[in-house]
Amino acid sequence: MAQTYLIFISMVILLFSSIIYLDTQPSETHKTDYPDELDIEALVLQSEDQKLIYGYTLFTATDQLIGPRASKVEKQITGNALQCTSCHLNDGIKPYGIPLYGVTERFPQYRGREDKIGTLAERINGCFTRSMNGISLDENSEEMSAMLHYIGWLDQFMPPKDVEFGNGLKPIDLPNRKVNLTAGADAYQKHCALCHKSDGQGQKSPENNTYIYPPLWGNHSYNNGAGMNRVITAAQFIKYNMPFGISHDAPILTDEEAYDVAGYINQQKRPQRALLEKDFPTLIKKPVSTPYPPFADDFSIEQHQLGPYQPIIAYYKEKYQITKTK
Ligand code: HEC
Ligand code: HEC
Repeated sequence: MAQTYLIFISMVILLFSSIIYLDTQPSETHKTDYPDELDIEALVLQSEDQKLIYGYTLFTATDQLIGPRASKVEKQITGNALQCTSCHLNDGIKPYGIPLYGVTERFPQYRGREDKIGTLAERINGCFTRSMNGISLDENSEEMSAMLHYIGWLDQFMPPKDVEFGNGLKPIDLPNRKVNLTAGADAYQKHCALCHKSDGQGQKSPENNTYIYPPLWGNHSYNNGAGMNRVITAAQFIKYNMPFGISHDAPILTDEEAYDVAGYINQQKRPQRALLEKDFPTLIKKPVSTPYPPFADDFSIEQHQLGPYQPIIAYYKEKYQITKTK
């Protein structure tokens, strides 16, 4: 009898301890930061795949290889201080840090900005001419081929099926009001100036002249035609990625702060891209926070730049049955 009792007790203990054990294991659905910890650089170098190594180097040292710091003028394709990784964070694998895993299979793809089906090389050139304030890279060049190879290689780091995919950017709840530029300036000094500096010009490494903290406005930043120059896009990027080092699981800024600070940085002077009026040939497809005209509505340029966006979103819903999220 005593023996049966003991067996019973030990089984109960076993049961409870396994419940506690299971409970303390990270739950599958919460491994959202999955690929963050990987050392991509080490993996690239280990591969000994020369094309991959070149693609990776172009992606992470863009300004030196094919930008303003390239020694040959014909190699100066980008026109600012940024690297691809300034925005495609953690070498292009940060969930909601505009990761580039899983991108290759989504192209060719329809794009509203050009109103046509475009290839991945053309999409990359969208970032070359806007985010990087440069000219287009020859689609048949060795450089483009290496970048495509690297982006395709990133597919292996796609989060497993049961984990949040994390592609693109994570939406925020847009405050239903105009951006408050004073609050944005305050949030900037409090949360951003430490690295990007009070004047937004970032900071170079004293050793090799490479920016450790990239500029957010001015001549060396993205131009006014870039996706990052839209308040909604910038607010989503900032909320879930800045101050640098945070994961989207644990943001520091509130939606209000991200919105105001995004409005603040995008009101500063930056390179201007020509012929922007030709973007979005089908005007009703233009994202609501695109800062430059023309628009298919009568809201002011200022409202497109600083909100409130809810009335614009409601207008397209009612008039064209289009649900706009950006
Ligand atoms: C200033 C920030 C910035 C820089 C620098 C930048 N990009 Fe982008 N990139 C973006 C934004 C914003 C998007 C659109 C994301 C969205 O709307 O979800 C994007 C989208 C892309 C896409 C399409 C992704 C998809 O999911 O469809 C590719 C490919 C890409 N960029 C490649 C590059 C390459 C290669 C470079 C370097 C030559 C580069 N980008 C530099 C901001 C940037
Ligand atoms: C701890 C330093 C640090 C802080 C604080 C910080 N950033 Fe960044 N930020 C970075 C780094 C580093 C990058 C580039 C990422 C890379 O190269 O891996 C970056 C990239 C960016 C980019 C995209 C690239 C560009 O230059 O446009 C934007 C936009 C940005 N930060 C905005 C902000 C805003 C807004 C804040 C404040 C809310 C902020 N950052 C706070 C370090 C920081």
